[in-house]
Amino acid sequence: MTFSFARTPDAVLTQLQAWRAADAPTSGGQVLAYVFDTGLPQLDELVRQAMVAMTPVSGLDPATFPSFAELERALVGFTRELLHGDDDVVGTATTGGTESSLLAVKAARDLWQECHQGVGRPRMVLPTTAHGTFRKAADYFDLELDLVPCQADGSVDPAAVGRRLDDGVAIVITSAPSYPFGVIDPVAEIAAQAYERGIACHVDACMGGLTLPFWPGVDELPVWDFRLPGVTSVVADYHKFGYAPKGVSVLLQRGRQRQRRQFYVCADWAGYPLTNPAMVNSRSGLALAAAWAVSQALGRAGFVTLTESVAEASAVLRRALKAIDGLTVFGSSIGPMIAAATDLAAPPERQVDPHLWADALRQLGWVVQSQPGLTQANGVNLPTTAHLTVTPVTQSRLPELEPALIQAADLVRGVPPVDGSLIADHLVAAGLLDPMFIQPPNSTTDQSLPRLDPDTAWAIVQALNQQPDDSASTVSSSAQTRLLALAKVVALPVTEALMIEKMGRPVEP
Ligand SMILES: Cc1ncc(COP(=O)(O)O)c(C=O)c1O
Repeated sequence: MTFSFARTPDAVLTQLQAWRAADAPTSGGQVLAYVFDTGLPQLDELVRQAMVAMTPVSGLDPATFPSFAELERALVGFTRELLHGDDDVVGTATTGGTESSLLAVKAARDLWQECHQGVGRPRMVLPTTAHGTFRKAADYFDLELDLVPCQADGSVDPAAVGRRLDDGVAIVITSAPSYPFGVIDPVAEIAAQAYERGIACHVDACMGGLTLPFWPGVDELPVWDFRLPGVTSVVADYHKFGYAPKGVSVLLQRGRQRQRRQFYVCADWAGYPLTNPAMVNSRSGLALAAAWAVSQALGRAGFVTLTESVAEASAVLRRALKAIDGLTVFGSSIGPMIAAATDLAAPPERQVDPHLWADALRQLGWVVQSQPGLTQANGVNLPTTAHLTVTPVTQSRLPELEPALIQAADLVRGVPPVDGSLIADHLVAAGLLDPMFIQPPNSTTDQSLPRLDPDTAWAIVQALNQQPDDSASTVSSSAQTRLLALAKVVALPVTEALMIEKMGRPVEP
């Protein structure tokens, strides 16, 4: 074989590095969402080496590549011990929190259907603060969503959940902690009620699974893991606080009977017999190997040290945010996530809108995540917030981060939130938005509205990118802030189409 490169490896890598240079910094703590940085270069190097070792391996056939099974067994074992599972608890490495969640829901759905001889459509009961991935699971696996509104402080009332639990429920979802506000759900109370009625109770510990067990004062925290007999499955993500690259999570299920429902087998086609414990067929061992390597190198003591640093930085940031005039921390969060909200006790001219604050922070070089809030079915409002995920590296950046949080607030204090109605009027005037879509989003009634076609949606996204900013602030609102403001006043199909176009167009060749 004669071979020559179409492009030299140097040229290819130079191109890649040029693209990467436009990314937000993935290490160094400036991005307080998406990335999980230990700040330990030796650990980063170990991750790289572990991935290199597993690069060519396929997890499709552990009989051919036993290293894959060894890694998975070891990582599942580490997680099971941590989350107090006994021998009855078995598990799987998946590609992330979403795949783990989907599998937990699928297994529960299948068990429910077997119990009901396939008659009826099962329900999934979940607090409104449960991660959106569970709505996706209900959508994919055809479960009816039964959303339980949260209380005004973002916490879940276990009695309200209990009232929904009946024979039609296949699974109830709890979070430890929930993503939007970092609140740990009353898992013990909910799991006990589910247990009594024979309903599966899943704990989404994507964020908490590898932080809460090491949290200072863990013995005073509520119990939420397999120590509770009613807990049937738990997920912990290694590509978050397991400090592995994206692509690895562990789903633990109580009992082989339950766990085997997540498998997919195809033994009656012409090709090789397919046995998939998870959703993916050819599984990559890259992130799995990295997760295992990190867990071995850190051991429990290493996780404790890193988590102490997360806990200390979280406490400092909670105090700092509460001290900022016009801003506060929403909900009784425990763990690495913090939601900053407007302090409604401050007079309007002193209030800080979290989304404008997030935009100001971005201009100062720090990235936090804007969350839209929600008016729940019972009318209780969950506020607009800005989300911060604290990682071990955050502590070393506090001397710069704290003043930036204050400076950003100073830049936008008293500036009212972006008015979505003005944007909607502008879009109607430009002929881009049909006035019939201007109505508060409602997940029940909006389903009957038509979908927005991709070209109109793209035109609106572009208009949002250029929308003149008529606010009084020296900081201009971002396109994302304008989109979230618009989302408050238009029907869901509009927002959904905009979000799809925003993601879909840039990757069209
Ligand atoms: C609590 C929680 N659950 C589920 C998910 C979904 O996980 P992933 O993004 O790994 O698919 C996330 C992601 O942030 C999360 O924080």
